[in-house]
Amino acid sequence: MRISFSSASIETVEADVLIAFAPEKKEQPLAAHLAGLNQATGGWLDEIYASGEFSGKAYETALLHRPQGLKAKRLLVVGAGPADKFDDALLSRATGAAIRAARKNASFALYLPDATPEQGKAAAEGAVLGEWEPTRYRTKDETKPIEALIVVSPSSDGHAIEAALERGRIIAESANFTRDVATEPPNVLGPQELAQRARDMAAEQGLQCEVLDQEQMREIGMGSLLAVAAGSVRPPALIILRYRPANEPASQDHLGLVGKGVTFDTGGISIKSAENMDKMKYDMCGGAAMIGTMRALAQLKPRIPVTAFIPTVENMPGGAAMRPGDIVTSLSGKTVEVLNTDAEGRLILNDAITYAKRQGCTHLVDAATLTGACVVALGHIYTGVFSNNSTFEDRFLSFAKTAGEKMWPFPVDDEFRELLKSPFADIANIGGRWGGAITAAYFLKEFAEDTPWIHLDIAGTASYDDGKPWAAKGASGIPVRTLVELAMSW
Ligand code: BES
Ligand code: MN
Ligand code: ZN
Repeated sequence: MRISFSSASIETVEADVLIAFAPEKKEQPLAAHLAGLNQATGGWLDEIYASGEFSGKAYETALLHRPQGLKAKRLLVVGAGPADKFDDALLSRATGAAIRAARKNASFALYLPDATPEQGKAAAEGAVLGEWEPTRYRTKDETKPIEALIVVSPSSDGHAIEAALERGRIIAESANFTRDVATEPPNVLGPQELAQRARDMAAEQGLQCEVLDQEQMREIGMGSLLAVAAGSVRPPALIILRYRPANEPASQDHLGLVGKGVTFDTGGISIKSAENMDKMKYDMCGGAAMIGTMRALAQLKPRIPVTAFIPTVENMPGGAAMRPGDIVTSLSGKTVEVLNTDAEGRLILNDAITYAKRQGCTHLVDAATLTGACVVALGHIYTGVFSNNSTFEDRFLSFAKTAGEKMWPFPVDDEFRELLKSPFADIANIGGRWGGAITAAYFLKEFAEDTPWIHLDIAGTASYDDGKPWAAKGASGIPVRTLVELAMSW
């Protein structure tokens, strides 16, 4: 999608579809720009509000063909919800919903009176995310790419908006890259294939990519990660992507991104039930998000070094698989008693976290589809946030808000430590039924130690079970936007 800015008047802009947002109207007069549209269309807006066809509820749409008084071929009015709740996050989703509602058209114009750069970025992101469809394996698919989006804002600073549109496009295209990779079926994409996607992306974007193989990981001592891989015929990998700023950075900070890359999670010997097991192809969404984030950073060039570490394995119940009761020695030297082979994510993340620290990372963020318990707590709406550093966590939560990704903090209280006690090893890999998202996070904290660290449990938010008005079914690309915001604001 080509995205551009225009300060043309709304009557003269040419497009297949002109999009305008209209709020939930409670007997108030229409805002000036909508009053103008209403007049140009001979009172069409008044009519659809009055008839109840359109109430302005968020994501609701109404389409008018051949609007009199406009050059555009169609006018699409999109509900913005209550005016006082229409923030950049909603603007982004409503733009996506508009694109999806009129997906058969090639060119769009979006009318945003007095747009700020932040609004431009949000709109570009929403449009590109909204365009995404998992079409790769549909042999009769007729979905066509959208050619153009013109953001029309008569009285805005064109240069600032253009730059913001460009940033939004890059970020959302990178999130869509994540969604493409993460939605691949598990027969097509195993650990080696995920590594190849990372290599290809790195070559395209000018990043450095290194992939540690099973033998190298054995020599280093990643006994925890390798135990998870043992049940599969597909060998594991540790994918490392490096971004370095061109100029000497102002501080010694080095951001490490760690993403869970389980390309399929059967549960292993502690096997899962059949229902919904297909969803476990999404168990590499954290890893795919880190690869997508690096793709965006390669183009946006933050001021700090960023390195991504993606431990990738397939969790299978093969003859060589790890068993409940096994004790493994992690890279850190800590021993782990495996009480449930389905708690495998933490067993690969711990070694990647230790490795990231040894590579010089001063701050860590990990993203993982880690626990069903997090989905019980926050549903499919919020990502769980866990940290050992409240300053870092508060900053992170504010970036999530700016980026339009919903996140909520959990307490990683030291009282949870005793739930992970093992009689035979330093730590057990599960903590019992209650507080499962927190004990999983606590397990990781034991390996992050005193390095400022944030853990994102994206089990509920990494993929959409059903489509949304603003997004297709499949991987969501969360938390790429927040991670980019974090790195760019450093
Ligand atoms: N990948 C799953 C978590 C998950 C569950 C992601 C549902 C998305 C949707 C993870 O590896 C897992 O199996 N976790 C277990 C942990 C338990 C054995 C302590 C879980 O949540 O049941
Ligand atoms: Mn599991
Ligand atoms: Zn898993």
